Amino acid sequence: MAGLPKYVRLVEVGPRDGLQNESGEVPTAARIELIDRLADAGLKTIESGSFVSPKWVPRMADTAEVMAGIRRRDDVSYPVLVPNMKGLEAAIAAGAGEIAVFGAASESFSRKNINCSIAESLDRFRPVCEAALKQGMRVRGYISCVLGCPYEGTVESSAVAAMAGDFMAMGCYEVSLGDTIGVGTPLAARTMVDRVAEVVARDRLAVHFHDTYGQALANILACLERGIAVIDSSVAGLGGCPYAKGATGNVASEDVLYMLEGMGVETGVDLKRLAAAGQFISDLLGRPSGSRVARAMAGGPDS
Ligand code: HMG
Ligand code: MG
Repeated sequence: MAGLPKYVRLVEVGPRDGLQNESGEVPTAARIELIDRLADAGLKTIESGSFVSPKWVPRMADTAEVMAGIRRRDDVSYPVLVPNMKGLEAAIAAGAGEIAVFGAASESFSRKNINCSIAESLDRFRPVCEAALKQGMRVRGYISCVLGCPYEGTVESSAVAAMAGDFMAMGCYEVSLGDTIGVGTPLAARTMVDRVAEVVARDRLAVHFHDTYGQALANILACLERGIAVIDSSVAGLGGCPYAKGATGNVASEDVLYMLEGMGVETGVDLKRLAAAGQFISDLLGRPSGSRVARAMAGGPDS
């Protein structure tokens, strides 16, 4: 199809974004097995955890054990989220090759999520990025609330563009644009991406949609048509953000892959294996997969 990238890199965020807010028990061994299964399915970037305050996000407290337990492959990156120097030190100790710093385009969300203003967060990230780059790590930047904030409502795309430029200046190889509460619609997503692309090249941008309002696939297609070729998604549609009440999971990886395959876009990921990984974690959590495609493939109620 004209206007679409030939190849899309899927960034799997299920083991981090998906599980960070999970109320059910997820044993460390299960997160490890999930990550290994996702690598077996062909994913090359698998966000595996975060080194944040365990008081803020208790679910990710076992990230060091997870990093020690996974079967690491040379061709797969296993990034971890890091909010400050303490997090970076833990990431280095765990042998992480890639970190992600995470800010927000809205002041209120920044305070709720990382307990500081946007300006303070940037001051905090600068030395973290510098030290990580010195260690030979790759750094990704996340921006939350790019299409709306749970506390402030509308968010200006100029604020998103400004932070994206700051992340690039800090040496991030990519900036992921997060619709944290899933409120965006395709035209808004397209306009926002075009505004950010005035500051950061499109091949350095990724999109990260939560599917709260069922708009994620439509938004992704709109962004693909604007030259974005990196998509964050979560196996079985796991997820939510502890500081964005009501936010549901990320768009399901299986659903994104099915759409891309249907349009002839390559990813290198095997849908059956991916769905099996989703089934594994859904069974463990004791609920049906959040992926429509996975349920259809399993002959479930939607087939
Ligand atoms: P704070 O309370 O201001 O931090 O939190 P502090 O520096 O005053 O430290 C307080 C305590 O936390 C101290 O412990 C520190 O040692 C400890 P105490 O002395 O009280 O025992 N601490 C840490 N422990 C472990 N690892 C660390 C660390 N840092 C401090 N790295 C802080 C500030 C940033 C730490 C906190 O707000 C925090 O951890 N926030 C993380 C929130 C989070 O992980 N949110 C979810 C990820 S973002 C997301 O999901 C959005 C995304 O998916 C994109 C999208 O969808 O939009 C990425
Ligand atoms: Mg997210």
